Amino acid sequence: MYGNDFPADDTSGGLLGEVEAAETALREAAERGRRGAAGVNPAAYFAEVIAADQKVEPRDWMPEAYRATLIRQIAQHAHSEIIGMQPEGNWITRAPSLRRKAILLAKVQDEAGHGLYLYAAAETLGVSRDELVDLLLAGRQKYSSIFNYPTLSWADMGTIGWLVDGAAIVNQVPLCRCSYGPYARAMIRICKEESFHQRQGYEILHTLAHGTPAQREMAQDSVNRWWYPSLAMFGPPDTDSTHSAQSMDWKIKRFSNDELRQRFVDMCVGQAEVLGLALPDPALCWNEERGAYDFTQPDYGELMQVIKGAGPCNRQRMEHRRRAHREGAWVRAAAAAYAAKQANQKEQANQKEKAA
Ligand SMILES: [Fe+2]
Ligand SMILES: [Fe+2]
Repeated sequence: MYGNDFPADDTSGGLLGEVEAAETALREAAERGRRGAAGVNPAAYFAEVIAADQKVEPRDWMPEAYRATLIRQIAQHAHSEIIGMQPEGNWITRAPSLRRKAILLAKVQDEAGHGLYLYAAAETLGVSRDELVDLLLAGRQKYSSIFNYPTLSWADMGTIGWLVDGAAIVNQVPLCRCSYGPYARAMIRICKEESFHQRQGYEILHTLAHGTPAQREMAQDSVNRWWYPSLAMFGPPDTDSTHSAQSMDWKIKRFSNDELRQRFVDMCVGQAEVLGLALPDPALCWNEERGAYDFTQPDYGELMQVIKGAGPCNRQRMEHRRRAHREGAWVRAAAAAYAAKQANQKEQANQKEKAA
């Protein structure tokens, strides 16, 4: 089906293997049960659980700052999945074939699912999905800056899958080992699906890069536009990153922004070669001493502007999200009425049983 040079196995640079290892570790830890007993000193117990690389669960005591950090991070992640449907949703009706359309539809639906798993994970920390959505709509919580860039060509569907989902995987695989159980478990499933997303994007780009000169040019133009915004997805450099050190101590985060960015660059170079596309960085070169590629950093000034709301599509994305929320009000009302009706029937059945 593909040219001979299309790589046959996983293109996520071995990250899928790490997801599977994290999944096995989670299962084994659950079978072993936890050491120590909760009770006398909850703070000491929390510290013990973190030190032993075990999972903090919703019923456990946890420092308020740990809870707040997780709520902020999981909510931002959930919002990103939901807003992230827009740039690609924009191309579903214009996909070049039925096969491409079916794949893109499945991918965008997966992102909706990711949003739902993550809102559910956040709810275990004592906030409701409604509250989080309201915070997003009021502009008080963020989503990933990458989704404020426009999708100008079909090739962008390929590049988003390859680079944006690729960067997401690099960021998220270590979260499969996050100290908070519900988040770690959600991430395992998400990462497996992200690996399909990365793969489908890679295959679109591979096809275009080996197509007509115009298709090739479209693919290269797309990679040129998305490369630096993808590097910026890892956040500000370590020297400016405010939340990192505490999150590392709590084992929410396992690697720094710069470490993950480097890992992503190192993974992409070989893949770009197979695609036959250039990464738009003349300074990119192998550094023998470091055993890693040197590369040009993204423009962090631009990242800050986009985070503050001045990116090319911020306003459009939020307007669309608010409209979708308004237009979906009747669905939420119908679901709530149905749930109330079910609860009522159950209650009546219980009463009858008691009376009998
Ligand atoms: Fe996702
Ligand atoms: Fe994805």
